[in-house]
Amino acid sequence: MSIPFIDLKSQYKALKPEIHARINAVLEHGQYILGPEVRELEEKLEIYTAAKHCIAVSSGTDALLISLMAIGIGPGDEVITTPFTFVATAEVIVLLGATPVFVDIEPDTCNIDVSKIEAAITVKTKAIMPVSLYGQPADMDEINAIAAKHGNIPVIEDACQSFGATCKGKKSCNLSMIGCTSFFPSKPLGCYGDGGAIFTNDDELAQACREIRVHGQSKRYVHTRIGVGGRMDTLQAAILLAKLERFEWEVKQRQIIGERYNQMMDEAGIRRIVQKSDRTSVYAQYTVFVNNRESVLEKLKSSGIPTAIHYPVSLNQQIAYKEIVRQGTMPVSEKISETVFSLPMSPYLTADDQDHVTAVLNEKR
Ligand SMILES: Cc1ncc(COP(=O)(O)O)c(C=O)c1O
Repeated sequence: MSIPFIDLKSQYKALKPEIHARINAVLEHGQYILGPEVRELEEKLEIYTAAKHCIAVSSGTDALLISLMAIGIGPGDEVITTPFTFVATAEVIVLLGATPVFVDIEPDTCNIDVSKIEAAITVKTKAIMPVSLYGQPADMDEINAIAAKHGNIPVIEDACQSFGATCKGKKSCNLSMIGCTSFFPSKPLGCYGDGGAIFTNDDELAQACREIRVHGQSKRYVHTRIGVGGRMDTLQAAILLAKLERFEWEVKQRQIIGERYNQMMDEAGIRRIVQKSDRTSVYAQYTVFVNNRESVLEKLKSSGIPTAIHYPVSLNQQIAYKEIVRQGTMPVSEKISETVFSLPMSPYLTADDQDHVTAVLNEKR
């Protein structure tokens, strides 16, 4: 028995005619960059998230970078974020000459620990960038309240793993001044290459992001600001439009499967990510903790069960970041990076597969 970690093949089979029809339409009209499907996608995502503006871009990393550029982040600025995330979150801050200021995480959700944010705010703090990790939104209302109290610091939700999740009934990506997501193939809504999107209700920020996406261009060859090459390929938008038709069903499936895993882990006494009652997760990953991780992963592998570690090293301990971020230790993040790992998860995971994964995990740990 071999179980895929993320089952993109079953999804493709279920959507094959729609995906091919969408791709063929692009091949026929030939507008490969920012073609009509890109705006169609943006409009559909605006409706989905209820955000006024969606700006489709070339990746989640570029969505974060463009957002930081739009609010004017530069040398000398500090951006508060989490050390327990994919490196891109901190990388874009450093690329702009600013400094990531890490705030440790909550042990139960692995999201930024909101109770520690205020202590990290200085006069140099120009943004707060929480991550909605594993598909569950961070405590965005609390973060927004802290940001408001300290002079309306812009809050950018790194929602690269949480498109489709909600917090108090509102969609992730529309929980703060700016939300950024990724359409990397393995994400809850993924394309067949790189893609991402920025969401905001602010007209000026949206315009800035649109211009930065195309080399700071307001009109053809009129460069009013510094930008990047951050456009979305039309083919990726076309694929996302086909997948969007099935996305709500997939989110429901993820939640059914995630909750079933939760029950099974609780029965087996295996520590897992805790779901907060005011939020829904899209279970981008299904994540648990064990003390003897190396041997457990080895045994799961030998039983045909793939796993992944998100993340094996806290960013404050990464070689490239140690010298930049001199904030001492992040005890929770560092400790969790030693025990955390993720199990196979997709909307197409069968109950039999789930039973098998849990049985092997339970017997091998
Ligand atoms: C939390 C987080 N931030 C940023 C990114 C970067 O997104 P992309 O790979 O689309 O550039 C990812 C993707 O893995 C992510 O998980």
